[in-house]
Amino acid sequence: MALVNSKKMFEMAYKNGYAIGAFNVNNMEIVQGITEACKEENAPVILQVSKGARAYANHTYLVKLVEAAVAECPDIPIVLHLDHGPDFETCKACIDGGFTSVMIDGSHLPFEENVALTKKVVDYAHERGVTVEGELGTLAGIEDDVKVEHGAESYTKPEEVVEFVKRTGVDSLAIAIGTSHGAYKFKPEQCTRNEEGILVPPALRFDILEAVAKELGDFPIVLHGSSSVPQDYVKMVNDNGGKMPDAIGVPEEQLRKAATLSVCKINIDSDLRLAMTGTIRKFFNEKPDKFDPREYLKPARANIKELVRHKLRNVLGCAGKADECK
Ligand code: G3H
Ligand code: 13P
Ligand code: ZN
Repeated sequence: MALVNSKKMFEMAYKNGYAIGAFNVNNMEIVQGITEACKEENAPVILQVSKGARAYANHTYLVKLVEAAVAECPDIPIVLHLDHGPDFETCKACIDGGFTSVMIDGSHLPFEENVALTKKVVDYAHERGVTVEGELGTLAGIEDDVKVEHGAESYTKPEEVVEFVKRTGVDSLAIAIGTSHGAYKFKPEQCTRNEEGILVPPALRFDILEAVAKELGDFPIVLHGSSSVPQDYVKMVNDNGGKMPDAIGVPEEQLRKAATLSVCKINIDSDLRLAMTGTIRKFFNEKPDKFDPREYLKPARANIKELVRHKLRNVLGCAGKADECK
């Protein structure tokens, strides 16, 4: 099947209590690792491309890589989505250039400006069959060139969501309930430590998620910053010359719970980066004489695939759901 927009996926995810994985793609091995897992698990998937990914790999290369994945996985629905669209022009370029879904991220703007920008993108996208994600509330962390310090983030205000959705016409809404971008989601002072000295983070604000759902009724919610930062990979990085002290993510049980509620899209990027980096660091450490990129990219791709398979089955709950999302 051809690339699809996110409409049917979100309808089914909402109705049946699971979430679609939205994984960031930057190169061939990442596209392959993700989509091979989704093909074998018969799972729908969103492949998302950031402004940074477009700058790194080039729009056309990324679209062609995703088209290759569609040809290799003809039985699963795949969305090609712009992650954190910074402005109307970037969204337009992606809509005109083959994307089936875009995010316009006006979350840093005053409410009225966010509404106006988001509505402009929605009007252009909907005329072309493309779905749109908007955002209210800001997450801490780094995305492209925007860095929000811990403490400067702001939770979504449930009293604003109905007006935003009605006035903009967005198809889904990203909200801030305590997740953040990157591999350091919580400051050590916000956490406790378990007996092994590993940080235990504070819980997500499910009260805000529930209040938003109460306001919006059947409406798909998106969670950004939802990597869990697997400690096995943090250790693999640190044991092989890396330095990622106190890297910490969102516990998977909390994401699983969110997926059974109104969260229909869960964004994961940092976990893929960790799997790839840990694997390659270990390879180089153990085999310093090797220099063929295929030899280290192959196990990196295989570990991305295993990580995605685990997410589909045990976190998102979307394994086996490809057919109902078509
Ligand atoms: O939200 C951020 C994503 O992880 C994409 O990261 O902007 O470095 O490509 P990037
Ligand atoms: P992570 O940094 O938690 O992987 O979040 C990715 C994301 O939200 C992409 O938009
Ligand atoms: Zn994000």
